[in-house]
Amino acid sequence: MDKAETPAPAAVIVLAAGAGTRMKSRTPKVLHEIGGRSLLVHALTAAEGTSPSELVAVLRHERDLVAEHLAEHAPEVTVADQDEIPGTGRAVQCGLGQVAATEGTVLVTYGDVPLLDPAALRELVAAHEDAGAAVSVLTARVPDPTGYGRILRSEDGTEVLGIVEHKDATDAQRGIDEINSGIYAFDLAVLRDALGRLGTDNAQGEMYLTDVLAIARADGRAVRAVVTADVTMVEGVNDRVQLAQLGAEMNRRILERHMRAGVTIVDPATTWIDADVTIAQDAVIRPGVQLHGATDIGEDAVIGPDTTLRDTEVGSGAEVLRSHAVLAQIGAGASVGPFSYLRAGTVLGADGKIGGFVETKNAQIGEGAKVPHLSYVGDAEIGEGTNIGAATIFANYDGVTKNRTTVGKHVRVGSDNILVAPVTIGDGAATGAGTTVRKDVPPGALAVNAVAQRNMEGWTLRRRAGTAAETAARAALGTEDSPATETPAGPAAEENQEHEQR
Ligand code: UD1
Ligand code: CA
Repeated sequence: MDKAETPAPAAVIVLAAGAGTRMKSRTPKVLHEIGGRSLLVHALTAAEGTSPSELVAVLRHERDLVAEHLAEHAPEVTVADQDEIPGTGRAVQCGLGQVAATEGTVLVTYGDVPLLDPAALRELVAAHEDAGAAVSVLTARVPDPTGYGRILRSEDGTEVLGIVEHKDATDAQRGIDEINSGIYAFDLAVLRDALGRLGTDNAQGEMYLTDVLAIARADGRAVRAVVTADVTMVEGVNDRVQLAQLGAEMNRRILERHMRAGVTIVDPATTWIDADVTIAQDAVIRPGVQLHGATDIGEDAVIGPDTTLRDTEVGSGAEVLRSHAVLAQIGAGASVGPFSYLRAGTVLGADGKIGGFVETKNAQIGEGAKVPHLSYVGDAEIGEGTNIGAATIFANYDGVTKNRTTVGKHVRVGSDNILVAPVTIGDGAATGAGTTVRKDVPPGALAVNAVAQRNMEGWTLRRRAGTAAETAARAALGTEDSPATETPAGPAAEENQEHEQR
């Protein structure tokens, strides 16, 4: 069903006050993450998908931590505090305290159910309102219903009589395999009234939300069940085993969504993609890829194998091979890798190249510019068409502050340069191999400062006699049979000369 065609609920109340003790964690359960978002944000995203007029989260356990998380990730959500009275009924009652509406449909969901699909919630609202029901509960048939509330139906199965909690159920009731998912649509006025009449006379001494069904029915109101075939969608996380299971299932669903939208994923078994990642049509994701956060992949881009990208933008047709990038932008048609590390603030222009074994940070690399081999580029701007020679280091840190290096357009930086920041190399300039650039290089100039080279003829023959190097040198020189010649000043003087040269 289309979002526009379905009615929007007056409010959604998301329950998140429970302690989650089975997680055995200092972190509140609903703040644990799968698919790059907290369980709670997943639940709230599903709720928001129904376009409710009001959205309330009920908190108690680690209230301040969770409220802070909401302020950052879902500031539109109203926080309701549950008091010391326990139970899902009390939680909803506390939530309703923050709801201004007096009529319409209220959805209740859980903060620890991350796979809930907004479309399923919209269908629940539509079915509920079409039937004119007071309560509609989402149910599922499961192979092992242990622990869940069971749906009690009339003999012929057509009418829902109520819900009995596992701990309160008779053996016969425990045999029922239709369970309460904990997701409901309520008529707001009926809910407010019934919550005011809830008791705590049950095995757990709690105010059970589930008792609202029997109360509504006793008042002659229609109570319905909507059975879902997708059990996983309504499953909650109680421990870290379930966290991993639902994380894997969420990933499977995300990958499937991208594949159906025209993305090639070569090996779904080794590919992990967060919920918020966007990928354009005809992109190819090779084995061993992890795409996290707000990563965005353009059309025809090829990612992987063995690549991790976080909050990184990859332009159309770009290629990223065996690399790791965080908060980087890779331009259209550019190429990265293998084995490179792009840190925050790396911006690689269109058709640019960051080759093998390169680390970059806060570096703007212009269109068509290349850093092909074994380099560190930090706090730098490199103009279009410039080439950085192999093994060049941008020395950006003097031990106290980080300084910037500017390299102009169409510059040729030689191999093994050290560019000591702050320094500027002008447009069209060049530097020789092994140059340590400490002073600005004007546009069009060639900078060289490599140490002059002196060759000491026959050194290996004299100083490395008896080694394979000597044999090789003699063969090349054609002097296999002649003895080593002493220099006039003798070996000691030669040693001194060598030291001087260093
Ligand atoms: C509840 C249902 C049960 C259903 C099951 C589905 C009741 C009485 N029972 O059982 O029928 O099959 O969910 O998972 O409703 N919460 C609060 N405040 C509270 C208690 C719970 O906010 O005082 C929240 C929890 O944080 C959680 C949700 O409500 O998100 C469910 O709580 P949980 O303790 O897991 O419910 P169950 O007793 O397992
Ligand atoms: Ca639970």
